[in-house]
Amino acid sequence: MARVACILMVSIDLNAVPKHVACVMDGNGRWAEQRGLPRIEGHKMGEHALIEAIEGALELGVEWLTVYAFSTENWKRPPDEVKFLIGFNEDILIRRQNELHEKGVQIRFVGRNDWRVPKRLTKRMDEASELTRKNTKLKFTIAFNYGGRAEIVDAMKSLMKTGVSPEKINEKMISRHLYDPQMPEVDLMIRTSGEYRTSNFLLWHLAYSEMWFTDTLWPDFDRSDVAKAIYDFQNRTRRYGGVTG
Ligand code: IPE
Ligand code: IPE
Ligand code: MG
Repeated sequence: MARVACILMVSIDLNAVPKHVACVMDGNGRWAEQRGLPRIEGHKMGEHALIEAIEGALELGVEWLTVYAFSTENWKRPPDEVKFLIGFNEDILIRRQNELHEKGVQIRFVGRNDWRVPKRLTKRMDEASELTRKNTKLKFTIAFNYGGRAEIVDAMKSLMKTGVSPEKINEKMISRHLYDPQMPEVDLMIRTSGEYRTSNFLLWHLAYSEMWFTDTLWPDFDRSDVAKAIYDFQNRTRRYGGVTG
């Protein structure tokens, strides 16, 4: 008997849930602007949506959830917004790590650890990873100062340092030098706010993922959207370049 979950009239086959779901959490600024509020108010409201996404993933049995928190291009934003985003990410870790730990969530990070990321934040990231490292319910990865191209550049640098000869390089080898070699390919990518692009997110892992887009702005996103995305995912046919039936 197939195990089925019904969330808001959507029937999901719990035996065919995507293993890795990745979210581009977009639309915080527009959410705030629509209400005549400063952009940072939208980021603040995005925290609730983030917890909803985690709860949705836990309820449905998703193994890996990765969220795009700050891109290598987001440094171009006004200094006040950048400063806020750095502080806010640190603040979320401080306030939420115990709660996530109790829920069995393993917190992980991907991104470039360059001079622009304050040491204080790196320390918090290490603490959260350490606290939750034995948890197994959900591998929750925060992509911070992350860029898909930067990741491939960094992987190539790391690979070259091994002294490998160019003829020997293959895809598996490159995967082993990415920020998190254990991270599986993305099965389902969700992007909110009506934008239809990857914006440099997980380029390597997105090669054959299914994409799901919604006009909902990130602060309005909740677990029912996770369910809808997974429902649609289960009605797609993945061919990986081959043929079916
Ligand atoms: C996503 O919301 C959050 C980050 C990129 C950090 P935005 O801030 O991009 O919101 P919009 O796209 O301007 O509405
Ligand atoms: C992508 O959103 C980055 C994050 C969600 C962290 P952006 O809002 O930065 O992407 P663009 O600029 O619309 O492509
Ligand atoms: Mg945006």
